[in-house]
Amino acid sequence: MRPDPDTLAIHGGPPVRTRPWMENLTLGEEEKRAVREAMERGVLSFFEGSHAPEPPFSFWGGPRVQALERAWCEAYGIRYAVGMNSATSGLIAAIGALGLGYGDEVIVSPYTMSAAASCPLVYGAIPVFADVKLESGSLDPGSIRARLTDRTRAIVVVHQFGIPADMDPILQLARGRGLKIIEDCAQAHGAKYRGKPVGTFGDIGVFSLNVNKTIQAGEGGLCVTGDEGLRKRLALIRNHAEAVMEEAGCADGTNLLGFNLRPTELTAAIGLEQLKKLKKFNAVRQGYVKALSQRLSRIPFLVPPPCCPHRAFGESGCEDCESAYYLYPLRFLPERCGISREEFAQALRAEGVPFTQGYTRPLYLQPIYQTKRLFKHGYPFSAPENLGSRATYAPGTCPNAEKLYEHQMLVSEWVRPPHLLEDVLDIARAIEKVAKTVGGPPLG
Ligand SMILES: Cc1ncc(COP(=O)(O)O)c(C=O)c1O
Repeated sequence: MRPDPDTLAIHGGPPVRTRPWMENLTLGEEEKRAVREAMERGVLSFFEGSHAPEPPFSFWGGPRVQALERAWCEAYGIRYAVGMNSATSGLIAAIGALGLGYGDEVIVSPYTMSAAASCPLVYGAIPVFADVKLESGSLDPGSIRARLTDRTRAIVVVHQFGIPADMDPILQLARGRGLKIIEDCAQAHGAKYRGKPVGTFGDIGVFSLNVNKTIQAGEGGLCVTGDEGLRKRLALIRNHAEAVMEEAGCADGTNLLGFNLRPTELTAAIGLEQLKKLKKFNAVRQGYVKALSQRLSRIPFLVPPPCCPHRAFGESGCEDCESAYYLYPLRFLPERCGISREEFAQALRAEGVPFTQGYTRPLYLQPIYQTKRLFKHGYPFSAPENLGSRATYAPGTCPNAEKLYEHQMLVSEWVRPPHLLEDVLDIARAIEKVAKTVGGPPLG
């Protein structure tokens, strides 16, 4: 007897998909050629930790690193780009370049990758977690306002999942108080807010080229800024600042302990080729998300990701924002459905369509924040300058982040090349199949 295709795989029926999902395979012949050329040159880094080395060695890095920075500036319409070996390095360098430190509070998101919140701690500043919007997972301007104190100096705004954060109210809050803004665009290459690329609104924008990102070089990152002084400080922190700040004509040494955050010529060679493909990759992702969301928006207990910070999926009228959809964040509303998220995800996994449940645990629940101990003697939390901070990391601090994590969020990473639309529609087929049984007998 042929198996009934409607029988759930978890009940012994045929799964929707048996083919494996693919890794983020974005590299082509162009990248291979670029790497070969760099290899043939034979020198894989031209950086030198001295301000006036013998050419072709340079404090600013070699020809490919500088070419990537120029190409990035052109693509983003911004004055300066500073290549890094990761976005984590870029975030740390950004906090350092802005001169933040002991006694300062930096507002951060709890619902993202850990470095976007922990970067202030490296220089002794205190992360203060504001809540996120349920719709997008990005910082809620109302919650930012509620967390402002006379110690607040900066905000790290993450364009979460590639959906631009709502920059207008955030910029308004920041301008009124002279706060600095770092935009974390690790997940948002090429996303636009009101017609302008994200990363170009704040003081410093930070991008990642790690292996999972829309464009990638295995590892790598960049910072962008319109400010010449910040560019210099970023470059100093990237490259042994304390040893060269005098030669660089830099009088203020605050935070200028230089690390080695330098990218190689290979990273830059690959990054340059990937940047040329960004628009194409984003168009593919946007097409997949639209097709998938059209199908899923018919299911009453699911909420597809919004088009932008101003519009839910299916609403029209926001032509000047563009999401880059690094991931596909799907909200599951358990109160509208007969089963739990765990049961739903289990049934999908059996159909060959795995989802990550919850995304990241709200970051303030990590041991570092719960114990308020990073460096010896509880520093920087216990530093005299920080004792007046009222930052709290208690459970319940950011109810929306906790709700998304515990109950609502389901994340798929498959809405990307090299998958084809047919692959992506397997996600819809599996969800539709499982959704048909919801409200019936328990799935398990
Ligand atoms: C929002 C966000 N910020 C920062 C990072 C760190 O990027 P990298 O791996 O390049 O250090 C990531 C990477 O996952 C990220 O998603």
